[in-house]
Amino acid sequence: MSELDWLERWRQGRIGFHRETPHSALIRHWQTLARRADAPVLVPLCGKSPDLRWLAERGHPVTGVELSPLAVEQFVAERDAPVTRWQSGEFTCLEQGGVELWCGDFFHVDLQPPVRFEAFYDRAALIALPAPTRQRYALHLAQLLEPGSAGLLVTLTHDDPERGPPFNVDAAEVQRLFAPNFEITRLEQDDAADGLEESVWHLVRRGPRDTD
Ligand SMILES: C[S@@+](CC[C@H](N)C(=O)[O-])C[C@H]1O[C@@H](n2cnc3c(N)ncnc32)[C@H](O)[C@@H]1O
Repeated sequence: MSELDWLERWRQGRIGFHRETPHSALIRHWQTLARRADAPVLVPLCGKSPDLRWLAERGHPVTGVELSPLAVEQFVAERDAPVTRWQSGEFTCLEQGGVELWCGDFFHVDLQPPVRFEAFYDRAALIALPAPTRQRYALHLAQLLEPGSAGLLVTLTHDDPERGPPFNVDAAEVQRLFAPNFEITRLEQDDAADGLEESVWHLVRRGPRDTD
């Protein structure tokens, strides 16, 4: 699925992935993995998820990165609160209530000068991407995180390698993608709807010394 396809999906309102309430795994596990309440959190491919506000309400400065201008505009329109807007390179940025939304391509979030985060949350981001792009995603994410950063990753498995999004991402692939840069612990593995199995992972970004 290309970037144009995602933009078209938002235009047509085909956003079956969107949930109106924060994800239960985020609520269950976040407190145990966040390093500091004020650690800046990166939410890649964030859509207009209520998870963004949930994290901000816990004190985190939150940065979501989303391709679709419709998604970010719908996010801020849901609250009657002031919105600040600015441009940063190719990103159109908005801030409301402690949530910054950077509208643009996640893979273009600059590494130079480094923008570093101390935590991340991925629900339906990795699994939204086709296999070749997932490798790129895992590396790019690692480069945006300080050593010691913790994150929550939610993946889905199903039995059709051709089907997606959501794409099938099994435990072996999570290891292959993230083990070079992260300590990985599976926190949960549960049946979800429509023959899908959901796993929740705790990832900790290794420091340079850990990878020697
Ligand atoms: C399956 S949705 C998940 C959204 C959100 N994480 C949630 O839980 O509701 C994937 C989102 O990623 C966005 N997206 C796809 N490719 C992107 C990219 N390269 N950079 C930023 N956002 C992207 C899509 O527009 C879509 O909103």
